[in-house]
Amino acid sequence: MPDLSGKRIVLGLTGGIACYKSAELLRRLQDEGATVDVVMTEAATGFITPATMQALSGRPVWTDAWDSRMDNRMAHINLTRGADAVLIVPASTDFLAKLAHGLADDLLATLCVARGAVPLLAAPAMNHEMWTHPATQRNAAQLRADGVTLIGPAEGDQACGETGTGRMMEPDQILRALVAFFQPKVLAGRRVLLTAGPTSEPIDPVRVLTNRSSGRMGYALARAAAEAGATVTLVSGPTALPCPDDVTRIGVTRATDMHAAVMAHAPGADLFIAVAAVADWGIANPSDTKLKKKAGGQPPTLRFVQNPDILADVAALSGGPWCVGFAAETDHLHEHAQAKRQRKGIPLIVGNLAQQVMDAEDAELILFDDDGAHPLPPQPKLQAARQLITWIAQRLPD
Ligand code: C5P
Repeated sequence: MPDLSGKRIVLGLTGGIACYKSAELLRRLQDEGATVDVVMTEAATGFITPATMQALSGRPVWTDAWDSRMDNRMAHINLTRGADAVLIVPASTDFLAKLAHGLADDLLATLCVARGAVPLLAAPAMNHEMWTHPATQRNAAQLRADGVTLIGPAEGDQACGETGTGRMMEPDQILRALVAFFQPKVLAGRRVLLTAGPTSEPIDPVRVLTNRSSGRMGYALARAAAEAGATVTLVSGPTALPCPDDVTRIGVTRATDMHAAVMAHAPGADLFIAVAAVADWGIANPSDTKLKKKAGGQPPTLRFVQNPDILADVAALSGGPWCVGFAAETDHLHEHAQAKRQRKGIPLIVGNLAQQVMDAEDAELILFDDDGAHPLPPQPKLQAARQLITWIAQRLPD
């Protein structure tokens, strides 16, 4: 099911060059199943036309508090009734100031004041001097204190040619922030540590021994934990994936590096989820120079050393975090997973069939605990991750 299925969003545009990105955002909101009513200030119509937003949304666009298309002429009241959120993208300096002071001199400002309990999110977009101006900072602080969620701004190149903080977040990031906003905060105040991806054991400077793992399940879990309100640290082996929003990633290569990073952070964590496909063996004597093929075709001999079991070591910490493991098996999933759970001394292990999960978009997870096996339906990895996080949150000790 799309992430915003059944949601009705009031998308407000205020004056700024970033208005052109609101057209893309509108599309993305619709892709996720949202119904979007667009409201524009007069200044916004100087940057992008209401016709563009109307054609994209397939719905009337509202710009005027006196609009006669509303039977009762109360667009400022009607538009937010039954809405799930008001999202201001872009939010100009002037509009933030209006919001902070409760001014109601145009349709968008008025409906924000009249919106009742409907959540308000805003993505500021302005020149960096305007963003760092004490008045703007005061207004932003006041808005946060009033319960408004500010998305960004980001740092980087600005339309004016200057560089700094004030650039609007990209439509993708704004969409993810809105989706995250709607997730239940079942891990609020919790600290979550995860491992993800493969580890990579050097044989020589150009060759490694590794495991097949895209990191997608671990990254999806890190995202789901952050969406659920946790403070998330992700210790990741080499992957091509972008770091999820609001997650601190620590990049590692070898299993011993992953072990060190995890042991440094585990004592402060409430929950540890070991998703990484850790190499069981490292190379005892990696070469400093590239190994050369020998005449006669004699291959090199590699000597292995056993890597530390990160999960078992965290589980053995006294007062350590609640531990969740993963078991990707090719056969006898139930027996292997339960045996692994007991061997490592952890309350929960998540099993899946290796041939189904590797390189796949979907996951079919079975959760194993003291009460037996609990299968989850096959679903995209992010949905599975959210379901797993909810399941864990219900069992996590206080
Ligand atoms: O020991 P095995 O690889 O079968 O168990 C898999 C689980 O243990 C996964 O959760 C994996 O992340 C974790 N693990 C670990 N350190 C290792 C090996 C596996 O944390 N050295």
